[in-house]
Amino acid sequence: MKLGSLEPPPLLKLGGSVVTFKDKVETPNLQAIRRLSREIADAKPPSLLVVHGGGSFGHPYAQAYRLAEGYTGGRMQLAGFTRTREAMLQLNSIIVKALNLAGVPAVGLQTSALAVTRAGRISSLNLKPVLGVLRLGGVPVLYGDAVLDLKQGFAILSGDRLSTALALKLGSRRLIMGVDVDGVYTSDPKVNPNSRMVRELNVHGRRFRAILSGIRGSRAVDVTGGMKQKILEVKDFVSKGGTVLIVNALKPGNVGKALQGLEAKGTLVKA
Ligand code: IPE
Repeated sequence: MKLGSLEPPPLLKLGGSVVTFKDKVETPNLQAIRRLSREIADAKPPSLLVVHGGGSFGHPYAQAYRLAEGYTGGRMQLAGFTRTREAMLQLNSIIVKALNLAGVPAVGLQTSALAVTRAGRISSLNLKPVLGVLRLGGVPVLYGDAVLDLKQGFAILSGDRLSTALALKLGSRRLIMGVDVDGVYTSDPKVNPNSRMVRELNVHGRRFRAILSGIRGSRAVDVTGGMKQKILEVKDFVSKGGTVLIVNALKPGNVGKALQGLEAKGTLVKA
């Protein structure tokens, strides 16, 4: 994909559990959003692409209307599809506004207008608007969304799947994933106090399968699968030479450090 003289941008995925309060419907975590916006502004990355998750804006509707299963018929489900997209658009504008206020030239791009899936996998992704923003020196801000699907009517395209696809298509080397835990653990740290954090995870290593079977999906309302699915999503990108750093974005400084290439505490996923 042609970026002209530009270096492929690093990607930052901000999880829904960071930018929203996951258990309060349509409630943004404004404090975290504003602080992260300042961290991004202070890090001054030469270029950047941001993707955010749905949290309490996307998942409750997607679950209530069973959107991930595709269109099963009826106006109600179609209304749920629209409701999810409206809520995601609203969250996107809150984040884009905060970034701009902090001095980051963020430009919101509606994922569902650029991407179409087939049975949940990305079938087409229009990169032209993304490249257009990058060439102007702007920061495109996309998000996990309810999208049209060629096979099942519609589907949920997670921010994780979207960000790895974008990273691969743009030739990016680095993906930073900001989540609400310190990294990947051998089991769920919110349930098991004895679980250990994994500093480096090699997707071709012998421990990979063992760690993957130790961690579960998400306990909160999450139609796209939590930490386990996150690791599975990035596997392809990592196998092709990319690196993924999973950091706790609720702890001040981590995302800023990661963007500056400084050592940030978290899990490095590589091949
Ligand atoms: C989900 O995106 C989007 C919708 C449910 C519409 P993600 O799967 O990336 O969201 P989080 O980060 O888990 O909240």
